Amino acid sequence: MGFPRAAAGLLFLAVIPVSLATSSSNFTVDYKNNCFLKDGQPFRYISGSIHYSRIPQVYWKDRLLKMYMAGLNAIQTYIPWNFHEPIPGRYDFSGDRNLTHFLQLCKDLDLLVILRPGPYICGEWDMGGLPSWLLKKKDIVLRSSDADYIAAVDRWMGKLLPMIKPYLYQNGGPIITVQVENEYGSYFACDFDYLRHLVKLFRSHLGEEVVLFSTDGAGVGYLKCGSLQGVYATVDFGPGGNVTAAFEAQRHAEPHGPLVNSEFYTGWLDHWGSPHSVTSTAVLVKSLNEILEIDANVNLYMFIGGTNFEYWNGANTPYAPQPTSYDYDAPLTEAGDLTEKYFAIRDVIKKYRKIPEGAVPPSTPKFAYGQVTMKKLQTVSESLDILSFSGPVKSPYPLTFEDLNQAFGFMLYQITLPVDCPKPTPLSSPLNGVHDRAYVTIDGVAAGVLERDKTISINITGKIGSRLDILVENMGRVNYGKDINDFKGLVSNLTLGADTLSNWTVYSLSIDEAVKKGLFWKNSSPRTPDNAPTTTLSPPAFYAGSFNIPDDIPDLPQDTYIQFPDWRKGQVWINGFNLGRYWPSRGPQITLFVPEYLLSTRAPNNITVLELEASPCSPGPCVVEFISTPIINATTRYTKPFMREPFSKQDLL
Ligand SMILES: *[C@@H]1O[C@H](CO)[C@@H](O)[C@H](O)[C@H]1NC(C)=O
Ligand SMILES: *[C@@H]1O[C@H](CO)[C@@H](O)[C@H](O)[C@H]1NC(C)=O
Ligand SMILES: *[C@@H]1O[C@H](CO)[C@@H](O)[C@H](O)[C@H]1NC(C)=O
Ligand SMILES: *[C@@H]1O[C@H](CO)[C@@H](O)[C@H](O)[C@H]1NC(C)=O
Ligand SMILES: *[C@@H]1O[C@H](CO)[C@@H](O)[C@H](O)[C@H]1NC(C)=O
Ligand SMILES: *[C@@H]1O[C@H](CO)[C@@H](O)[C@H](O)[C@H]1NC(C)=O
Ligand SMILES: *[C@@H]1O[C@H](CO)[C@@H](O)[C@H](O)[C@H]1NC(C)=O
Ligand SMILES: *[C@@H]1O[C@H](CO)[C@@H](O)[C@H](O)[C@H]1NC(C)=O
Repeated sequence: MGFPRAAAGLLFLAVIPVSLATSSSNFTVDYKNNCFLKDGQPFRYISGSIHYSRIPQVYWKDRLLKMYMAGLNAIQTYIPWNFHEPIPGRYDFSGDRNLTHFLQLCKDLDLLVILRPGPYICGEWDMGGLPSWLLKKKDIVLRSSDADYIAAVDRWMGKLLPMIKPYLYQNGGPIITVQVENEYGSYFACDFDYLRHLVKLFRSHLGEEVVLFSTDGAGVGYLKCGSLQGVYATVDFGPGGNVTAAFEAQRHAEPHGPLVNSEFYTGWLDHWGSPHSVTSTAVLVKSLNEILEIDANVNLYMFIGGTNFEYWNGANTPYAPQPTSYDYDAPLTEAGDLTEKYFAIRDVIKKYRKIPEGAVPPSTPKFAYGQVTMKKLQTVSESLDILSFSGPVKSPYPLTFEDLNQAFGFMLYQITLPVDCPKPTPLSSPLNGVHDRAYVTIDGVAAGVLERDKTISINITGKIGSRLDILVENMGRVNYGKDINDFKGLVSNLTLGADTLSNWTVYSLSIDEAVKKGLFWKNSSPRTPDNAPTTTLSPPAFYAGSFNIPDDIPDLPQDTYIQFPDWRKGQVWINGFNLGRYWPSRGPQITLFVPEYLLSTRAPNNITVLELEASPCSPGPCVVEFISTPIINATTRYTKPFMREPFSKQDLL
């Protein structure tokens, strides 16, 4: 039987209104028999992580069905607070943010849910899911009893938890367990009052019955500040190690009850400038088998990683942002495709659990639309009138993104040179306060790039009164460790020679809104081409091109991947949708995933590119190219190994 009919059958069976659920539905911890009890029966979950925030809503069902067909009986997901409350008190649960729709799909597909509502989630997600507006209080202590932090958490959870309450298992929904905080034992604050407050808050909204749990690294040291009475302590660890020894750490906190690995790593995260992470399938399935053999519960993190669209990636320290792809070398690829790892995992699960019959939904076809010619529109500095809706703000010293209530993207800092600099003069950020990358132009000519933790000084020349434009890119907020109070923009003063620069004009930029409104298309009078060869820098500028979907080929549009031959670094939109950052000059990611639902067969598809360093568009024509296979593992230019080791919870404090 083909999968569509199987899917329809599942959906049909599951149309049971929440209100008809029997009051005997229950899910508890059995401390005597070291397992969970579901409706009074011993129960063990084999779960996989899927972050709805990294997958467009139209694909949720396909990805969940593939997880179900692998033999999983549960999924685990994070709820990123900043995805849902972009502005204090303004909530968004529509479209790709429709959490209850996601939960309903899980229920319809007979998948239980392990919910991780934070408030902090880590997750390689901007600021670990915390909204950047929390930083309006400059000295806020996040993830602690700080009164302003708690007030914001209380308000958010007061909105969120009542929404999910009907989806708890005992209320007829799919949610069996709810996590409190995340890996709190790895955070410096070790504030038990904070954890106790969260537990009270969760209980007040969700009731006394729900199983609350915590997750920490599999080491006694992590469990010290991460576990709490009344919250079931679980651990996380990757393949290749000693499974028995890892669970001994959990037994230290929970002498009895089910063994649970809440994050069993199927792959690992990437950083720009570091090699792509790969985890051997053989090692993975060996450890998975060892976990299942001892009746432990497991969640495969990730089962599908998905994509950091827009600006949602996080970063580690020393500052190392994660790329746009969150493929994670997971059993389902970023695009939801089946891999050898998927079938190997399924074969292990088969030994322990009856897996569903029927065909696994297939990988989706990909199409190479080929090259698209791009033309240069205008530079960012030439576009300030259409990009800065609120107009500039004058300030003696630089203002941050947070000062101007801008969460993501780019801000422009403008100043006139106070002195003649006929000889190369250092323009510096002595306190390493460029967060995170600054593109410097003088009178419209590119002069260099400053980068956090890498380049804090460049030499410039110029005349008194010359216009210095500094476009600062927020490359993603730190999501792990003690540096999560990650302000963006110029967070400390710049100096020219020995003097602190003052008298700035700061532009908050609404680039996404301008792209969505098509402002660049309306303003696309061709500008003078750059005469700079691509080996040198040119000012950050917009480029545009469009392409049609061939109408003589059946079943189009299909998914595709976009690459940027000889482009350097920037942001790309298709039909107004922000696909994310590209940075092929650093790697390892070369192509960006373009889901087919973004493409139109009725009108030309519009590509907008913001190239920050140098485009190949002069002197000749330049192109972007759509190909049918992803490249996320190119050899990178920077080989310095990154500090956070795979599969360990190495503390960076
Ligand atoms: C839990 O469910 C089982 C099976 O439906 C039932 O026998 C038992 O009474 C329930 N327990 C509670 C505490 O509701
Ligand atoms: C979420 O999806 C459901 C359908 O499952 C729909 O009824 C509801 O209106 C959606 N919510 C929002 C905020 O769009
Ligand atoms: C794994 O750890 C357990 C408990 O610490 C120990 O008894 C066992 O010898 C270890 N196994 C291996 C293969 O090292
Ligand atoms: C700036 O110029 C000075 C003097 O010409 C030189 O010593 C220094 O190395 C240069 N610094 C950089 C970052 O290029
Ligand atoms: C910039 O320098 C001025 C003058 O020394 C100082 O008052 C101000 O606090 C500095 N600003 C930042 C963000 O460091
Ligand atoms: C500040 O800069 C503006 C131009 O942006 C200039 O007109 C003004 O004189 C400057 N003020 C000081 C105190 O330098
Ligand atoms: C692309 O832009 C053109 C010109 O503004 C517009 O007519 C067309 O509808 C756009 N295409 C899509 C798919 O939105
Ligand atoms: C990248 O991945 C592809 C597909 O798995 C593989 O064929 C290729 O050898 C890899 N390249 C590098 C440089 O590792």
